[in-house]
Amino acid sequence: NKQLEINEKGHLTVGGVDTTYLADKYSTPLFVYDVTKIRENARAFVETFASLGVKAQVAYASKAFSSIAMLQVAKQENLSLDVVSQGELYTALQAEFPVEKIHLHGNNKNREELEMAIQHNIGCIVIDNFHEIDLLTDILANYEKEVDVLLRVTPGIEAHTHDYILTGNEDSKFGFDIANGQAEKAFRLLNQKDRIHLKGLHCHIGSQIFETDGFIMAIRRLFDTLADWKRKYQFEANVLNLGGGFGIRYTNEDDPLPLNEYVRALVTEIKKQVTIHQMDVPEIWIEPGRAIVGNTAVTLYSVGSKKEIPEVRNYIAVDGGMTDNIRPALYQAKYDAILANKADQPNTYTTSVAGKCCESGDMLMWDLLLPSVESGDILAVFSTGAYGYSMSSHYNRFPKAAVVFIENDKDTLVIRRETYQDLVRNDLSYE
Ligand code: LLP
Repeated sequence: NKQLEINEKGHLTVGGVDTTYLADKYSTPLFVYDVTKIRENARAFVETFASLGVKAQVAYASKAFSSIAMLQVAKQENLSLDVVSQGELYTALQAEFPVEKIHLHGNNKNREELEMAIQHNIGCIVIDNFHEIDLLTDILANYEKEVDVLLRVTPGIEAHTHDYILTGNEDSKFGFDIANGQAEKAFRLLNQKDRIHLKGLHCHIGSQIFETDGFIMAIRRLFDTLADWKRKYQFEANVLNLGGGFGIRYTNEDDPLPLNEYVRALVTEIKKQVTIHQMDVPEIWIEPGRAIVGNTAVTLYSVGSKKEIPEVRNYIAVDGGMTDNIRPALYQAKYDAILANKADQPNTYTTSVAGKCCESGDMLMWDLLLPSVESGDILAVFSTGAYGYSMSSHYNRFPKAAVVFIENDKDTLVIRRETYQDLVRNDLSYE
């Protein structure tokens, strides 16, 4: 199910552009994003909400891949934006992202971050803990400003792919527990703050989720809480933010739902709960990261060395690895790949793909089936658009890769490859 676009030379293309041309022009490792696909994913979310007649904000979780160009595309697609740090917020401001559609997250927001958010009048702060409430109260008094917030709660549901677990008290560093009353305590505290306007609740149950059950259970928990607060405090939520986590296909083992089906399931359950509890339909916010960009990029690598261990395993090594994609090493994440310059040739050779770092764990793929591989071939790894570049590192002092956007048959460099000078830019001498 690789849905390949292959040209008459037998080369893999992205958005109509030959990937071997891109590898030549920009060198490797190279992230190549198909912007048309980013827009399609964004629109699948936005248009499904619109077609169901509910008010919604689709906030792109920029941790998945943040760059000025990416945030400009998000802005063009009328997305909102989830940022989790001052760096992500700074990038958003540089991209001139509309501040009223930026939401700030984080389990340890510091004074500087909160001040930056307040100074720039960002749309919403997702309150995570009591310390943050104190800091925010203080800052708002100094600046004579007001802010809209959501309360992040842990509903006791944790979902991963097909599994979800239900717990009374979730053992998580994020948010306020519903079960032990912390959420209600925070709610009452926020209600006393003149300058802080509580718009509703937020929860995020996990990432790379393939089914809707976990979301549905979370929605039920949130509505139980909202019903309780309505009864006790006459509180009505304007906003319900259900976080991100919508899964994508990395390999054929993965079987995610089409994006519109996640949206339909959420909206259906919320409408049901609203009827049961006699409430108004709140605005529904979601925060997809991976589902917007994950399947929109390939990483191109050049194949270098080769090692064959008879009766054991074959290895090829590429010119990147855990520095541009930590996910296999960190999560045992699986990927699929082909030889971009031999995309029409039959797969006859089984080999594992190693990275170039001095680290045995730096393996990108195990026992991949490829055409006969030679040094200089271009390996294209699929679905690297989320948490690839954004989690990349300088380990072994590898400069970070370059990023290219493709749209309308045109390639545009959007992040330059780092240079060796970049690597030592902040180094000071000690002679
Ligand atoms: N909202 C919140 C509050 C989150 O914590 C996250 C992800 C998202 C939204 C976006 O989730 P997504 O739609 O991308 O699944 N580095 C890991 C994923 C970590 C996700 C952390 N939070 C990976 O590479 O799989």
